[in-house]
Amino acid sequence: MILTLGHTKGGVGKSTLALNIAIERLLAGVETLLVDGDPRQTSISRAIGIRAEAGLVPAVPCIVLDDAKAMRHQIGLL
Ligand SMILES: Nc1ncnc2c1ncn2[C@@H]1O[C@H](COP(=O)(O)OP(=O)(O)OP(=O)(O)O)[C@@H](O)[C@H]1O
Ligand SMILES: [Mg+2]
Repeated sequence: MILTLGHTKGGVGKSTLALNIAIERLLAGVETLLVDGDPRQTSISRAIGIRAEAGLVPAVPCIVLDDAKAMRHQIGLL
C-alpha cells in the first residue's frame, strides 16, 4: 500500500502525520518505508534524528526523493 500525504498549504501537519503513521505501521509489524518528498527535508529528518539519539523504537526507515519524476520512477522500482 502506498499512502500519500500532501497539501497545497504549508504547516498543516503533513510531516507530523506521515511520521506518526509510519511509526504506528511499524509497531503493527508492517514493513514500512517513509519517503520524504519535501525539498527542504527538515522536520522528518530532524525528528528521526532526535528519535534515534533518544534510542526510541521503532527506528523509522526513511529516504528523500524530492524530485517528482525521480520519486515516481523510484517508487515504481521499490
Ligand atoms: N495534530 C496536531 N496538533 C497540534 N499541532 C500539530 C499537529 N500536527 C502538527 N502539529 C504542529 O504543527 C506544526 C507544523 O507541522 P508539520 O511540520 O508536520 O507540518 P507540514 O505540513 O509538514 O509543514 P511544511 O509545509 O512546512 O512541511 C509543527 O509545529 C507540528 O508540531
Ligand atoms: Mg513538512
